[in-house]
This record gives sequence, C-alpha cells and structure tokens, in this order.
Amino acid sequence: MADYTLSDYHEHSKHHLNRYAPGPGGLDWANQPDPFRCYKGAARIELPLLADTLETRYSALRCGTLPAPHPFNLQSIAILFELSLAISAWKSYSGTSWALRCNPSSGNLHPTEGYLVTCSVPGLAAGVYHYVSRDHALERRGEWDGPVELNGLAIGFTSIAWREAWKYGMRAFRYCQHDCGHAIAAVSYAACALGWRSRLLARPSDAKIAALLGLDRATASAERETPDCLLWVSASESLPSDMSSAPSRWHGQPNRLSADHVEWPEIEQAHQLTAKPCLDQEPANRVSVTYETAGKPACDLSAAQIIRQRRSAVAFDGTTSIGADAFFAMLDATLPRLGAPPWCAWPWAAEVHLAIFVHRVDALDPGLYVLVRNPDALAPLKASLRPDWLWHKVGPPGLPLYLLVAHDLRDTARLVCCHQEIAADSCYALGMLAHHEIATSEPWRYRTLYWECGMLGQVLYLEAEAAGIRATGIGCFFDDEMHELLGLRGHAWQSLYHFTAGGPVDDARLTTLPAYTLGRSRCNKRSSQAPDSKPG
Ligand SMILES: Cc1cc2nc3c(=O)[nH]c(=O)nc-3n(C[C@H](O)[C@H](O)[C@H](O)COP(=O)(O)O)c2cc1C
Repeated sequence: MADYTLSDYHEHSKHHLNRYAPGPGGLDWANQPDPFRCYKGAARIELPLLADTLETRYSALRCGTLPAPHPFNLQSIAILFELSLAISAWKSYSGTSWALRCNPSSGNLHPTEGYLVTCSVPGLAAGVYHYVSRDHALERRGEWDGPVELNGLAIGFTSIAWREAWKYGMRAFRYCQHDCGHAIAAVSYAACALGWRSRLLARPSDAKIAALLGLDRATASAERETPDCLLWVSASESLPSDMSSAPSRWHGQPNRLSADHVEWPEIEQAHQLTAKPCLDQEPANRVSVTYETAGKPACDLSAAQIIRQRRSAVAFDGTTSIGADAFFAMLDATLPRLGAPPWCAWPWAAEVHLAIFVHRVDALDPGLYVLVRNPDALAPLKASLRPDWLWHKVGPPGLPLYLLVAHDLRDTARLVCCHQEIAADSCYALGMLAHHEIATSEPWRYRTLYWECGMLGQVLYLEAEAAGIRATGIGCFFDDEMHELLGLRGHAWQSLYHFTAGGPVDDARLTTLPAYTLGRSRCNKRSSQAPDSKPG
C-alpha cells in the first residue's frame, strides 16, 4: 500500500447507494470485542458515585454560567468521570445485558478509552490512570519517581479501532474519530458542571501522548490502542507550559479483547497518514459568537440528569413537532461560544456547518436549511453549493441560519441516511458539512474535523433531551448522494456525520437497569449491544 493516500481512504470508506464501504460481511459473534479494557496487575481505586450531589442546572451550564470551581480531589474527579465516560444504564433483552454510557458510540462498541494524568490530590496519588467505566474505577498505570507539579489535570483519549472494525470494517476509522469527539464534549460538559475549564491541547504530538499514556508499551497480545488527544482541565483559563514527561514506572497488562482479529490495513494507513506532529504553539485563531443566547430549554433539569438520561432513539413517531424557538435554541448551542461547553474546549475555528432537513418545526417551512457556524465560511459555501439556492436568512437576527429551498424532504433524508426511517420520522435530520480541504495541507486535521462533528453531536444529543425530545447520531449515510443533493463538486467540502432528532418511540421489549447500584463487575455479560443492533 505504498502509494495509498488519505484521499484514497476517504473515498474507499464512503457508502454508495449501490455499494456499501467494505465491511466484514457479517458479524463474527464469537470474536465480539470485549467493550471494557482493563489492566491486570494495576492497583485499582474504586470511585464514589456522587453525581447526584451536584447542583448545576443544565440551563446554566449550556450558557457557560458555571458554579464556583470544586476542589481537585478524588470526589470531584469521580464526578468528572461519572458524568462523562461512565455507564448511565444497563439494557437487558432475552437474557443479554449491555451497558449504555453517558457518551454515545456507533454500534455501542465504544472504541474510546479514557485516561487521567494527575499530580497528587487529596485521596489520589500522582499518576497516569486508566478509567474502567464498567466498574467506575481507576487503574494506576504509571507513576513518576519524583514529585509532579500540575496546575490542573489532563484527560487522555485513545482509540481501539478493532472494536469498531469488527462490525464496520473500513469505515471504522471514521467512527473512532466521531466517538472521540463525543467523548471530548462529554468531559468538557462534566468539567464545566464542576466549575472547571477545559481545553483540548493542540500542541502535543501523537507520539508524546502515546508515551505519556503508556500506549507505546502495550503488549503484542492486546489490541492496538492509538493516541487521540489530551484535554486539559483546570480551575482557571491558564494552560500548562508543557505536559509532564512520561512516568518512569508502569503497572498492569492490558486484556485481550477478542481471540481472533481481521486486519484492516486501510485503517492502519489512515492512522499513519493522519499522525499528528508536535505544534509550535497553541492556535490563536479561535472565534466566538458574541450575541445573546437564543431561548431556553423546555425542561429545567440538573446537568447530571440530562447527561445521564441521554440516549439514542431507535425510532421516531413521525408526528411530534417542536416549536421554532426550541429549534433555534438547539442550533444556537452549536455555535462556538468560548465561555460555554463544549466549545470552550475547542482550540480551533469552527470548520463544520450544518445542512438541515427540517421536517416538523412549528412555523418553519419544511425544507433544506444551512447553519453557517463561522462567518468566514459563508461566501465559500455559497460559491460551492448549488447556485440557485435561496439563502434566505431565517430565525433570530444573530443566528446564521439560511433557507435554501422549501420542500418536503423526508424521502430524501431517509434515502441519504442509508434508508433509515429515523431520518424521515424526526423533527429534523442534518448532515455535517466539513471544510475537508484543510486536511490537504495538514492531514491530521482530517481527524479533528470528525472530532468537531462528534462534539456537535454531543451538543445536539443533550439539547434534544433538554427540549423533551430525543436524538440519534447517524454514521450510515451515502456520502456522495448528500454532496450531489447540495450541488457540491470537488472535495473542498464533505459531509462527515449525520444526525436526527424527534419524538422517540421506545422499544418495549427492553428492560432498563440502573448503572451501578446492582454491583459493579457485570463482566460476565460481555455483549456491547443488542443482538439486533443498529446500523452505523
Ligand atoms: C458516530 C455514531 C454513529 C451512529 N450511527 C447510527 C446510525 O447510523 N443509525 C442508528 O440508528 N444509530 C446510530 N448511532 C447511535 C448508536 O447506535 C448509539 O449511540 C449506541 O447504540 C449507544 O446507545 P446510546 O446512544 O443510547 O448510548 C450512532 C452513534 C454514533 C456516536
């Protein structure tokens, strides 16, 4: 694969109307990857379950009105994980149980692993820890010889691509990146709920992150885990001048997730082609919207409740509609406000915009709309999309929302989303239009585009819950059919993730069990999903 390019990966991993991206051609249930990684032999610290004590309201959190910072200690760190990467419920059907988490994942396969890098805080010794969501516990992987000074802590994210490739084959690399974006946003919301600031560190290279988290030491028998990013969390806006060096002593051996594996060399190539170098400095080109936030959510609930009740809808009723103000408020939350989560954590300018199929929003014509999240993108987008689109400004003055065409697009949305009914039965469905061109000169930005999409997804999931409806991320869509519909030619803009929200219809066959109250180690039930799981 000597001449394989990033553009090859992107094109080969597209779904087409007449041909899906190469996949395994069936599910090898005997080799279903264990959804939980753990490090045998590493000391474990069980975290307390304290999220219910947190008073932060979601309506305040979404606007960036944060409580006074909680002290950095074991209890607060426990809440940080409980409201971001922890299990939120167990589902059970016909003798099989599977865990749901605060962060969603395509196919519920959860390729993203979370790590904590901390100096000594009350209740927790300095070290690099791996988080085990199944048990809400930390495993102490690494420690330093001397004292470590950090003015905050870092959350590290990594991906185990095999978990996704088992089901989705070549397209799995994309889903790993989406899931990482969801996880970044999830931690950012949780940090802000504790009164802390969060910021993705743009400078560290993949190699530096791998060394810090001990990924370069993994054993050959365990599936490869690749570095994604570090999220800095502190009580102030200040960033660390440099992250600490890698620990000098390591503990524990990673578990093997499947007995057997299928190799996807294109995924390995995509990893190598998008490897992130060390940057000279943190980016300075962040932009923030300054006008007043539009609207308030319908449900005034605690942040902890909204975060933990987040679920993907499996079906929509095809009748529920939402008010225009609620819709505008949801879109408004996707705009890059630096004071509010999760955009306070994002170091780059907004490069992803929303092409929205509105089906059922009161007082809004059904049709195709575009939300331009960065004013610099308006002219290039207008020049790239079909010349006869209307571009009528709609909604509150500050909301950069434009009507392109009024039309009933339910059939189109269903078709574009791999014939999935949820795209037509919803209040709206959308595609995330990314400025793909930026990955030409800096290939590692290919990954950050998906991360931004995942963050947008997390915002829309939580906003849907707060509005009294429900959402679903959509990884299965026909890429070029979407581009053709918009009138896009070339590769400067590409749709990288789809999404939909509406009135949910629950699956009455499933039983819901609480997250941890029935005991922590349910590891005998290894499934990551329902036997009739959803596409992605
Ligand atoms: C990147 C991504 C892609 C997804 N793609 C689809 C999809 O195409 N169709 C679908 O019905 N659900 C899709 N989902 C929803 C997942 O199936 C769902 O998140 C997972 O089953 C876990 O359930 P939960 O979100 O309720 O925690 C996707 C989720 C993510 C994060």
